[in-house]
Amino acid sequence: MKDRTLIFLATLFISSITATSCTNSGNVVFDSKTTTISIKTNKVISDVSPFMYGLITEEINHSYDGGLYAEQIRNRTFLQKKTIPYWHLITEGTARAAMNRDTVPVEGTALSGCLKLEISSASTNNRAGIYNDGYWGIAVKPNNRYIVSFFAKADEFFEGPLTFSIENNINDTVYASAQISGITDKWKKYTVEMITENSAPECSDNHFSITSTTPGVIKIGLVSLFPPTYKNRENGNRVDLMSLMAKMHPRFLRFPGGNYLEGNVLENRFDWKKTIGPIEQRPGHMCDAWGYPSSDGMGLMEFMYWCEDLGMEPVLAVYDGLNLSRMHDPITGDSLKPYVQDALDEVEFLTGDKNTKWGKLRIDMGRKKPFRLKYVEIGNEDFFDFKRTYDERYKLFQKAFREKYPDMVLIASSDGFVNSVRPDMEDHHAYMKADNGMGLLQAHLYDNYDRKKPALMIGEYAFREGSPTTNMLGGIYDAAYLTGLERNADIVRMSCFAPIFVNVNKGAMQWESDLIGYDTGKCYGSPSFWIQSMFSGNLGTELPASSISHSPVLKDTSDGNGNRIRIEEIYYSATMDDDHIYLKLVNAAGHKNKVQVSVQGKDVRKKGTVTEIAADSLSATNSINDLENIIPSVKKARIFADKFIYELRPYSVTVIKLLTK
Ligand code: AHR
Repeated sequence: MKDRTLIFLATLFISSITATSCTNSGNVVFDSKTTTISIKTNKVISDVSPFMYGLITEEINHSYDGGLYAEQIRNRTFLQKKTIPYWHLITEGTARAAMNRDTVPVEGTALSGCLKLEISSASTNNRAGIYNDGYWGIAVKPNNRYIVSFFAKADEFFEGPLTFSIENNINDTVYASAQISGITDKWKKYTVEMITENSAPECSDNHFSITSTTPGVIKIGLVSLFPPTYKNRENGNRVDLMSLMAKMHPRFLRFPGGNYLEGNVLENRFDWKKTIGPIEQRPGHMCDAWGYPSSDGMGLMEFMYWCEDLGMEPVLAVYDGLNLSRMHDPITGDSLKPYVQDALDEVEFLTGDKNTKWGKLRIDMGRKKPFRLKYVEIGNEDFFDFKRTYDERYKLFQKAFREKYPDMVLIASSDGFVNSVRPDMEDHHAYMKADNGMGLLQAHLYDNYDRKKPALMIGEYAFREGSPTTNMLGGIYDAAYLTGLERNADIVRMSCFAPIFVNVNKGAMQWESDLIGYDTGKCYGSPSFWIQSMFSGNLGTELPASSISHSPVLKDTSDGNGNRIRIEEIYYSATMDDDHIYLKLVNAAGHKNKVQVSVQGKDVRKKGTVTEIAADSLSATNSINDLENIIPSVKKARIFADKFIYELRPYSVTVIKLLTK
């Protein structure tokens, strides 16, 4: 990653920053025409939730398979359509072979089929076998250690060995290779390692082959290829994507959805019991919400490890009787009770001790320590329940949870749809458009929110501008919206942008304007990503009273009823902790803007830090070919005081971290 962090020597920096963007003076004179932000640190409105910024995740846009989940083999269990997708036959020279799906179960696994490779002729320079495309290729890096695993059995004529290789698609260069001999007529799992050379290039235009130079009939079940994973977790995550996410300082993870939780039909919901244990015990399911199969390699435990690896609080969404195809007919009453029990079992699996049925299973699966779990959301987007049964369904869940897990924070999946009991929190989703400036009004959405209502998790939000990932327009509008969440931190306790991930390869995306883009070997953050990183990394613990005098007007218009609407250019929020004030400033205009800042209460030291992201145009963005076109710069400065003037760059988001001790 390019390091654009600039730490100037104080004197050198003062001269550059005063000239361009800031005026410091103990005696600075404010004028009434310039926007003035007043922060009263001795008047605290509320605390700021440490979980203000997090992530929501689901299988969409190849978020896991072909995304975060590091598995390289696509269709590793040989699902079949007309052919076996992503698998192809190799017959070099005089070699002769055929491949078909065989519906014999792979003994000792949950797999109901395998690939049957019948090699009638093969010899030293005439290989026969199969190869897999990977998810838009197979990523190669120098000195990369891969673990290959597979189930196999062979007929008595097969002498072997089988050779496994990662090969370049264009010039057939073999980057890594390993052999397995002694395959018998009994199903068995084999594991082998292979390592790329120091001289191997970083490239993804590769495939994975399994070949033989001798004839015979071989049955192969579940083939897996794992590169190194984040924190070396078995069945783990891509290192680059986890490292990138860590830069966002996410404090919670809402999972497993999203529509992926519910599926279109009951069988295709996230059925957690089928997502635990060794991968060969996970048959996978159709992610019909987004139109492709899910391997379930990213299962319930993997979500929890992901949380632990990035220090995030899990927010577990449980299935509650609503499927996307039954919005007019959710499961209710006695028929819902098994699913309430299923949710209780899920929590017991994660948090129970050895004396509980499901806790014991988790321990038997290798995880002794209970997982930390405090937040449970009942369903997803139950405002889509057109029969309006959510109140009744939610109540059943809440009653059961209060009895068994009284300390759990329960979140209703929609705001205002549960009235007969009080949820601890409500989830609000907001997908927005810039709409020629009108979207900026969303920055005031919660200013007059009824404080008697339950606290809010903004479980999905995004300004959907830019594709596949958001551009600066989306970023600026997100930032203005986030200042609105922070200014209302007494009621808004959690928020997360959706969706996080998109594989940018052709055909991989179902939902555009995402936070992080990637292909098989590279990844990048959108402007929205970097802005969330700036906000989350400068959160503060308390919300002081603050106000803004006025802002230059970006647009003066009226609504359909003739009411005047003034859309502002400048947006702000201010939070603090014992030693700092965090002032966030958004300039939505394409020209510079000055703000006058006045702090009452705490003494502001000269020293501070300015983090800024800006672009010349709102269409500016990052992409797989320009990973860091727009990223924030961090500068240390000695220019602040209780009153100061700061000049905002055009189309910019700025976080000023003031020192108060
Ligand atoms: O984020 C994409 C989808 O938007 C989610 O799956 C769903 O909850 C929402 O409608």
